[in-house]
Amino acid sequence: MSTQAEKTREAPEGGRPAARARSLTKTYGSGEAAVVALDSVDVDIAAGRFTAVMGPSGSGKSTLMHCLAGLDSVTDGRVWVGDTEVTGLDDRRLTRLRRDEIGFVFQSFNLLPTLTALENITLPMDIAGRRPEPGWLDTVIDALRLHDRLEHRPTQLSGGQQQRVAIARALASRPRLIFADEPTGNLDSRSGLHLLEFLRRAVDELGQTVVMVTHDPVAAAHSDLVLFLADGRIVDEMSEPTAGAVLERMKRFDTVRQP
Ligand SMILES: Nc1ncnc2c1ncn2[C@@H]1O[C@H](COP(=O)(O)OP(=O)(O)OP(=O)(O)O)[C@@H](O)[C@H]1O
Ligand SMILES: [Mg+2]
Repeated sequence: MSTQAEKTREAPEGGRPAARARSLTKTYGSGEAAVVALDSVDVDIAAGRFTAVMGPSGSGKSTLMHCLAGLDSVTDGRVWVGDTEVTGLDDRRLTRLRRDEIGFVFQSFNLLPTLTALENITLPMDIAGRRPEPGWLDTVIDALRLHDRLEHRPTQLSGGQQQRVAIARALASRPRLIFADEPTGNLDSRSGLHLLEFLRRAVDELGQTVVMVTHDPVAAAHSDLVLFLADGRIVDEMSEPTAGAVLERMKRFDTVRQP
C-alpha cells in the first residue's frame, strides 16, 4: 500500500468519526408487542476506514445502519454524521445531508421498476440536479461489470445484477460515507470479490468511509474493524480481522446463545 494511502487511513479527517451514536435506542411497536431493535448503542464509525457489522439475524444490524444514515427515526439517543447532529434535523436538511454525504445500499434493492439500470443508478443525482463526475460513473459501472445491462429494467435483471445496480446507485455520486447492507448477499463469489476489492480501494485510495453489514467471514476480512451485534447491542469488536478469526468468534456466539 502506498504511503499516501496509509496517511489517508490513519488520519483522514483529523480523527473525527464519520458517524457516531450515543445511547441510540430504537424500539418498534409499543406495549407488549414492543421490540427493542437497538438497546442504548454507543458507536464511532472511523472516517476513512472500512467497518463491517456482523451478528445474528434480528440483532439490529439493518436498524443500526438506517439510524446512522438518518433513514429511520430513533426512539432515544443521538446520532451524528460528521459534525452534524442527525437527530433533530428538519426534513429538508436531513434530505440534503443524505443526498450530499451518504450512499446507502439497501438489503432489499429498492430499484424503480419503470426505470432502466442506468436511470436507476443516476436517479438520486438527477433529482438533485447534479451531474456525475466525469470518469467516476464509468469507474463504478466498470467495477460492478454493468456495462451490458444499463438499458435493462430491474425485472429483466438477475438478483445479483439488481444488487450491483443498487450498489452503483449508492456509489455514483461518490459520497464520503457509504452504508452497504449485505451487499454481497446475492452475488456470485467472483462479483462479490470484485465489489469488496472496490470498496477496499474506495477507502484506501479515495478516503471514503464504508460500513458494511455481512454474514460472510470472508467478506468481513476485507474490513479494518468488525463490530459484532447481539440483541441490539455491540458486544464485541475485532481489528484487522481474518476470515478464520471472524468465523471462530461467530462460533462462540452460537455456543453462548444456546440455552
Ligand atoms: N419495521 C419494523 N417493525 C417492527 N419490528 C421491526 C421492524 N424492523 C425491524 N424490526 C425488528 O427489529 C429487530 C432488528 O431488526 P433488523 O432488521 O435490524 O435485524 P438484522 O440484524 O438486520 O437482521 P437480518 O440479518 O435478518 O437482516 C428484529 O427483531 C426485527 O424483527
Ligand atoms: Mg438486516
